[in-house]
Amino acid sequence: MYSRFVKMLGINHPIIQAPMAGGATTPELVAAVSNAGALGSFAAATLSPAAIAESLQRVRALTGRPFNVNLFVLEEPHPNDAELASAQVRLNPFRASLGLPAASRPAKFCENNQAQIATLLALAPPVVSFTFGVLDAATVAQFRQQGSCVIGTATTVAEAKAWEAAGADAICIQGIEAGGHRGTFLGDFEQSGIGLMALIPQVARAVNVPLIAAGGIMNGKGIAAALILGAQAAQLGTAFLCCPEAGIHPGWKQRITHTSDDGTRLTRVFSGRYARSIVTDFMQQLRPFEQEMPAYPAQNALTAEIRQAATQQGQLEMMSLWAGQGAALARPMPAALLVQTLADELAIALPGR
Ligand SMILES: Cc1cc2nc3c(=O)[nH]c(=O)nc-3n(C[C@H](O)[C@H](O)[C@H](O)COP(=O)(O)O)c2cc1C
Repeated sequence: MYSRFVKMLGINHPIIQAPMAGGATTPELVAAVSNAGALGSFAAATLSPAAIAESLQRVRALTGRPFNVNLFVLEEPHPNDAELASAQVRLNPFRASLGLPAASRPAKFCENNQAQIATLLALAPPVVSFTFGVLDAATVAQFRQQGSCVIGTATTVAEAKAWEAAGADAICIQGIEAGGHRGTFLGDFEQSGIGLMALIPQVARAVNVPLIAAGGIMNGKGIAAALILGAQAAQLGTAFLCCPEAGIHPGWKQRITHTSDDGTRLTRVFSGRYARSIVTDFMQQLRPFEQEMPAYPAQNALTAEIRQAATQQGQLEMMSLWAGQGAALARPMPAALLVQTLADELAIALPGR
């Protein structure tokens, strides 16, 4: 018995492969997941409108099934010059060790968010999802008129209510366990760090839209637990990072499978916004200055060349190795096989569903 929500999305399993910015969610990964009967998600937040259009064309060439495209909701950045300058000075030794010249002010801090949203409206993918903020009701209505199902991301009851008020079709609720950045946009980051087991039932009691649970879910039993607690589907990120279709450095994949339950930590040194990564030397060395980093997207732009050069040179200790707290449970296998494995495990954990 599939939930009405899963039927509405047009998928066979209550499983969503999370959007993961930075090249992880290749069109090949998204299409493999969607073709296997789950929902593949393409992360478009760091791409230009032209690159988004090109990527969607590729996804559409690879699958005729529903898929999701994800963007951030961002305010216009206004970084403070003094803060930028001292952050750049701190980063210069890391740049030097990678053979990069001393930092200069980035030409831009992020893509134009309004232009990205306008592009997505025109491209009208079957599902759109957003994080880091809430869209206004008029924009949500425009997406729905275009035939796109709208998913908002929340980390607290208040944020879920804000997305419900904006007219979202569903809300992805993200627990503190989650890999990468979390969507917190109303409250304090530390107080909004709620474990998924506590978060699902409290949000389920407060809103009347379908919930998608995210954070630390790695297998069918985890998906079953989320459904029992009140979610209609589960969104898995780290579990899909070790698939051959995921576009991340092989060393990062290896670190995921070799990490431990306490191998990750929240940090704002890479982007200026708290995100969960496997602990690296870069994180440790900048930890004393964590609170002094300019806010997202400024610090993200300042570390972009470092992360890129580190990836090219295979310097894992200077890369952002985003991963959730369940990372050690990741199973490297093709995405279609992972979807089928998760679905089979779910059927055993929740027979008769
Ligand atoms: C490498 C990585 C990149 C991510 N990028 C995004 C993103 O672009 N947009 C988004 O909504 N969530 C992003 N997330 C968070 C995921 O959507 C999801 O909430 C998270 O992966 C769930 O936790 P798990 O990794 O423990 O499964 C990212 C997560 C990871 C691991």
